[in-house]
Amino acid sequence: MRKLLPHMRKYIKFAVLSPIFMILEVVADIIIPYLMSRIVDVGIANQDVTYVLKIGSIMVVSALIGMTFGVLSSHCGARAGFGFAAEIRQELYKKVQDFSFANLDKFTVPSLVTRLTNDCNTIGQVTMMSLRMAVRAPFLMIFALFMAMRINASLVRVFVVSIPFLIIALTIILSKARPLFLKFQSRVDRVNAIIQENLTAIRVVKSFNRQSYEESRFKERNDSLMNTALKAISLIVFLMPVLNIVVYSTIIAVLWFGGQQVVAGTMGSGELISFITYITQILMAFMMMSFFFMQLLRGSASVSRVVEILNTESEIKEDPQPLEEISDGSVTFNKVSFRYPLSKEKTLKNINFHIESGEILGIIGSTGSSKTTLVQLIPRLYDVTEGSVSVGGVDVRKYSIKALRDNVAFVLQNNTLFSGTLRENMKWGKEDATDEEIIWALKQAQAWEFVSKYEEGLDYWVEQGGDNFSGGQKQRLTIARALLKSPKIIILDDSTSAVDMTTDAKIQRAFKEELKDVTTIIIAQRVSSIQHADRILVMNEGEVEQIGKHEDLLNNSPIYREIYESQKKGVVGA
Ligand SMILES: Nc1ncnc2c1ncn2[C@@H]1O[C@H](COP(=O)(O)OP(=O)(O)OP(=O)(O)O)[C@@H](O)[C@H]1O
Ligand SMILES: [Mg+2]
Repeated sequence: MRKLLPHMRKYIKFAVLSPIFMILEVVADIIIPYLMSRIVDVGIANQDVTYVLKIGSIMVVSALIGMTFGVLSSHCGARAGFGFAAEIRQELYKKVQDFSFANLDKFTVPSLVTRLTNDCNTIGQVTMMSLRMAVRAPFLMIFALFMAMRINASLVRVFVVSIPFLIIALTIILSKARPLFLKFQSRVDRVNAIIQENLTAIRVVKSFNRQSYEESRFKERNDSLMNTALKAISLIVFLMPVLNIVVYSTIIAVLWFGGQQVVAGTMGSGELISFITYITQILMAFMMMSFFFMQLLRGSASVSRVVEILNTESEIKEDPQPLEEISDGSVTFNKVSFRYPLSKEKTLKNINFHIESGEILGIIGSTGSSKTTLVQLIPRLYDVTEGSVSVGGVDVRKYSIKALRDNVAFVLQNNTLFSGTLRENMKWGKEDATDEEIIWALKQAQAWEFVSKYEEGLDYWVEQGGDNFSGGQKQRLTIARALLKSPKIIILDDSTSAVDMTTDAKIQRAFKEELKDVTTIIIAQRVSSIQHADRILVMNEGEVEQIGKHEDLLNNSPIYREIYESQKKGVVGA
């Protein structure tokens, strides 16, 4: 909580005002029963209409004042609570933006989503309620007790029986509720996770006809959420009758003993009425306290989940005095090994190679041979476990992350577009790109041929994830976006897999002619996509098997030859 409190700073005014207004509301709540007793015992007893009217109007005014302060307190409480939540959410968002891929692997995206939405909302709500209830309950208790004592100290002794009983009942119920609440949160998490995972992949689910399987998977989690919620609710349902019994028995006891005093003439009947109101208020305050503790439980679970994010440092740390200039696009891997944070085995083992600036390097290898893992180390999406990766002759860890990633454009294997216009999407590559620059990039990536056909041109709307484009179109658009960065190094990870061979060849040619100074790394499954590269690197089970020209590899790389032969056969057979 200490970690979160600074985020309240902007709303501190409301956080202070809310309880103050609340105290004033409590004062009004306390005065009213007292005025009531005066009306009964003095006004009505003496048939004094003016007195009744006078005190009656004071009562109405107090009620109005109380109401006003109540509204103000709620308002300030809401401002403070939700403002606080918004600040925390903003901070979390910022933090997550800085997370490395390794951090994301550990937290998982669905869990981050729940933390930024549900948990922040809970913190906001609990803060709002705490600001009001944590003040209202004790003050109501103290003031009401004071008034009740003033009216009739001996009658207050009924509490000697009822309050311990109440405390015992509440303790038992709350201690049972705590684990249920924590369980409830984790169940909500599980449901959210599955919703997240499946709705984002709903098209895949449908195409595999997995709806019924996914539905049953969902049903299991959804049911277990419901059952936990029901258990928690039934505890609370149980709480109400217990509390009612205590309240009504206390009232009956007061009526019994108080009634005798009224008959004996030692207590006014108005006093008895207001006394009952006060003890009801005291018992209500007790219930409010218990409810408040329950909320705190809910809140504390959310707080720890949020703080966990805030306490996580990005696995990718920037050098204290980072270099901003990258001299050229040469790349060197020196004795590089790499292990994914969550896996036990090394994915890359002892990788050594050097690429000259401006060279075109093809990378080929069977699926799972760690091609993607290898190139991810260049823009520091992950850091090496051992050895070093250098760009322009300097260890990548020496550069500022911004400079490095601005200079290394990486077209991810399963890249995506964002909802917005095509122009907006392209400007991800370069914020101030002109239409001419965008069109140039689209032309190099062979995307202009279909974009130019759109009536809206660059204003053409892109749906979320780029779902309104074909796979090959999307790939060409993501290549164009990367080109706009005018990087020193560009990495295409299987980025033309969905593009037909002729268009693929056109893209290769454009890269060779228009991007002479740019180091180009092309990962491909098709030999035809890389056979004209300056050199080709053959990956095999996390190691470099061979590196060389197409013709040389045909002679001395069995893996390369096998891939080549199988694809040639495929073409001949077709
Ligand atoms: N985030 C991750 N966490 C743990 N292991 C991973 C992660 N990403 C990939 N791996 C593992 O690393 C190995 C290499 O994967 P990688 O994606 O580099 O292969 P690839 O050569 O690019 O394959 P493909 O041709 O199918 O794209 C695989 O065994 C994979 O299971
Ligand atoms: Mg890959």
